[in-house]
Amino acid sequence: MALVEDGRRILANLVYSQEEIHASYGGVVPELAARGHLEKLPTLIRTALAQEVRRQDVDLIGVTRGPGLVGCLLVGVGLAQGLAAAWGTPIAGVNHLWGHVYAALLARADLEPPLLALVVSGAHSDLVRMPAHGEFQVIGRTRDDAAGEAFDKAARTLGLGYPGGPVIDRQARLGDPRHQPLPVPSLPGLEFSFSGLKTALLYRVRDLGGPNGLDAATRADLAAAFEWSVVDSLLQKLDRALDEWPVREVVVCGGVAANTLLRSRAEEVLSGRARLTVPPFALCTDNAAMIAAAAPHARQGAELRADPALGW
Ligand code: KG4
Ligand code: ZN
Repeated sequence: MALVEDGRRILANLVYSQEEIHASYGGVVPELAARGHLEKLPTLIRTALAQEVRRQDVDLIGVTRGPGLVGCLLVGVGLAQGLAAAWGTPIAGVNHLWGHVYAALLARADLEPPLLALVVSGAHSDLVRMPAHGEFQVIGRTRDDAAGEAFDKAARTLGLGYPGGPVIDRQARLGDPRHQPLPVPSLPGLEFSFSGLKTALLYRVRDLGGPNGLDAATRADLAAAFEWSVVDSLLQKLDRALDEWPVREVVVCGGVAANTLLRSRAEEVLSGRARLTVPPFALCTDNAAMIAAAAPHARQGAELRADPALGW
């Protein structure tokens, strides 16, 4: 739940993390996630409004309509519709993926399209062009797993638990990617693929005696090697996309953009061809401020129906 002024200035950005609830199951349990939304959203809304503004001052309600887990989307859309009806406020159904790109506009006051974005999250690894506000063209995507999903599965293979991205990141800082090198996925054009890399890690761990047979140093080296391969593959395609579609502004966003190696190597890869914006950590992983920032640009008359498989 967030309050954003003029699509750019964050007045409040509240995130209720469900990490602890899902950690014991080793992944997100959709039913529990939806219930968590139902329980927490009313409190978050009250908290945000009490802190910052009067409800009369809210002139647009933006709500995520997809892509995402259907139960969570239904709770959000239903609640937003109730508020809009009660307050007499207009409402906009916002694309979750657009939100990730708009997080970068929240982070940098003078950032405007046209831009090229690498959007990497739990379910997406997309290269998109944004020629103008509210316009997106996908120029590259993954054939199989998304980068975040690959991190989450690799963490399980290494016996590191959930959530995978942050634990792999922490472990990788303790290891050396050259000690247990893994292949860097490479498909022609601007497509990604991470399932082969995932399998390579699985076989390597099996050869080393399974997750329980790994000593701490080897586990850290494997995490570092896996991270290196994912990040290298993402950045090779970003490099190529920038050659094919030259622009002055590049954005790297989505939950995986919280990754330390990706953040530090992205600038190198651009080598001065474009300006890079990576949102601060709190705006990379899912949050409501990014949805509020995208809301004024949502397609007019867009349906408010929750759509778990909504595309760009
Ligand atoms: O955008 P997001 O918060 O939710 C989705 O829309 O999916 O992205 C979540 C994904 C998860 O797969 C998580 O493992 C990954 O982002 N992630 C990371 C890091 N922090 C979160 N991946 C790599 N390194 C991180 N530091
Ligand atoms: Zn997301």
